[in-house]
This record gives sequence, structure tokens and C-alpha cells, in this order.
Amino acid sequence: MKVAVGSDHAGFEIKARVLEWLERLGHEPEDFGTHSAESCDYPVFAEAVGHAVARGEAQRGVLICGTGIGMSMAANKVHGIRAAVCHGIEAAELSRRHNDANVLCLGARINTPGEIESIVRHWFDAEFEGGRHARRIARMMAIEEAECATAGR
Ligand code: RB5
Repeated sequence: MKVAVGSDHAGFEIKARVLEWLERLGHEPEDFGTHSAESCDYPVFAEAVGHAVARGEAQRGVLICGTGIGMSMAANKVHGIRAAVCHGIEAAELSRRHNDANVLCLGARINTPGEIESIVRHWFDAEFEGGRHARRIARMMAIEEAECATAGR
């Protein structure tokens, strides 16, 4: 599948490896930057990757910053994005199986490269289970719709 990938300076180095791992898993990753280790602002890349996923230009997104937290907060501001910070494989699997996460956020200063590779692999292997979880996702997305309607007034 097409995967939009972005990072800030903290995730810049590991992003190159994430792109390789995704290709090896049979995906089509696209690099949304950043393109150097120079200090930059993570919301820029969270917005770009979030838009690519929300508009269907990519099926999933991967974002990397120091902790994954800022990236997830920013990406979740984009309508239709369910970004999950995953620092371990259990959360990675469950964020797909239960929460239908469409963006994976990683912490380059939290996890080792080996751990990140494993988190990525587990996240892409896991499928949304639907059923009772679909009802909860619908409820979650209804909050977003209602908030946007209120903001548009
Ligand atoms: C950058 O120093 C750092 O704040 C950023 O990478 C990220 O961890 C924010 O959540």
C-alpha cells in the first residue's frame, strides 16, 4: 500500500531506515521530509502526512519525532486521522485491531532502531477487527464531525 512518511530532525536518521523497511515489506513509501538533520517543526510534517492519508493519496502514514507525541497530537488535528503513538508492539497491534489507526507515530528518542523495525512490522501486519470496535470508531468520528460543525458556525 502507499504510505506517507514524515519526520522532524529527531526522526530524520531513522526515517531513512523506516522507508527501506516499508519497501522490504512490499509497500510504496513516499518521503514527505524533513530532508536534513537541521532543527525543524514537527507539525509541518504531521499536517502534510495527515493530509495525504485523509485525501486518500496514501492508505497509511508513519510519523517520527523524538517521542512520537507531538506528531500524534498534530496529525490528529487533521480531519479523518486516527494517529497512534506506539512505543511497543502490543500497542502497535491493538491500535490497528481495535482503533483502526491510520497513522503510526514513533519515538526516535524512546525506542531503539530494532524496536522501531518490529513496531512498524507489527503495525502493518495487524488488521482492524471491526464489530464492536467499528461502533466505537464511528462514535469517535462523530465527535470530530460535531466539533467541526460547531467550529463552522
Ligand atoms: C524536538 O526536540 C522534539 O520536541 C520533537 O521531536 C518531539 O519529540 C515532539 O513531540
